[in-house]
Amino acid sequence: MKKIIITREVFDETIECLEAHFDVVSNQEDRLFRRDELLSFISGAEGIQTSGGDKVNDEFLDAAPQVKIIANTAVGFNNIDVDACSQRGIIVTNTPGVLDECVADYAMGLMISACRRIGEAERFLRSGQWKTIYLKQMLGVDVHGATLGLVGFGRIGQAIARRANGFGMRIVYHTRSRVSEDIEKDLNATYVDKSHLLQESDVVLLILPYSKETHHFIGERELAQMKRRSVLVNIARGGIVDDKALIAALKSNSIFAAGLDVYEGEPALSAKFLELDNVVLSPHIGSASESTRRAMAMTAAKNLIAVLANGQAPLNWVNPR
Ligand code: GLV
Repeated sequence: MKKIIITREVFDETIECLEAHFDVVSNQEDRLFRRDELLSFISGAEGIQTSGGDKVNDEFLDAAPQVKIIANTAVGFNNIDVDACSQRGIIVTNTPGVLDECVADYAMGLMISACRRIGEAERFLRSGQWKTIYLKQMLGVDVHGATLGLVGFGRIGQAIARRANGFGMRIVYHTRSRVSEDIEKDLNATYVDKSHLLQESDVVLLILPYSKETHHFIGERELAQMKRRSVLVNIARGGIVDDKALIAALKSNSIFAAGLDVYEGEPALSAKFLELDNVVLSPHIGSASESTRRAMAMTAAKNLIAVLANGQAPLNWVNPR
């Protein structure tokens, strides 16, 4: 039987589904392997179900010379050197579609938390500082009626736009390729260039893939173009924002607040973020609802089955062909 390795804990049903076809070894204790331990764990695998936290590069691939498919349990795949995989004829897959609505829900939550200071308010209350209610207490910025600037307007961006319409937000978007007029009309969304988006938006929300081209898409220059009472939300990937520049902007109140689910070099993040009250921080959990994570793990498993058990093309093929 072909051997499948799963690098992080998954749900029982994922293993049961894979065990009907393969010899499956999964890290069900969810041990945080050192790199050398991970490399020895994947030895002998023909298929590997990775998590978005696994760095798949030449060193990783060398440790599993029989591997034919890397099934990433995430829609993003910037943890994988896809060129290195392609050169070796290894298929890379991801999990698009099943997490769109869940991530869009989370984007709204992070946006509202940052605009209305929910994290800061809870810290204030828990630390026993709340003595009375008064007019100027914890004043935030409105979400309803605000202009939302979406950078990235794929499935998740559009799911966010649908929700934002319910909040009476005005929606502008910027993306590499403009969507059809029908979609724009349906979602009340107007295409604008990057500068206009930064200058007009009350909330700039990032939901674009990370690549060399999008590295530091938001840096000092872009932050300086944003409105003084605006909010930046990043639920896409660390590295799209220059965290150092963002910390400076938050510290000097050149923007109102930020909501972040991702960081440069995560899981490490700058300790300076922790000192700031005007930033809401979460540990890359945009897709973390139980049903969505179950669906993501199962999608990765289905890709493994399609390729290694059925000899078919995978459902979610990432390598350029
Ligand atoms: C999560 O960040 C994902 O890419 O699925």
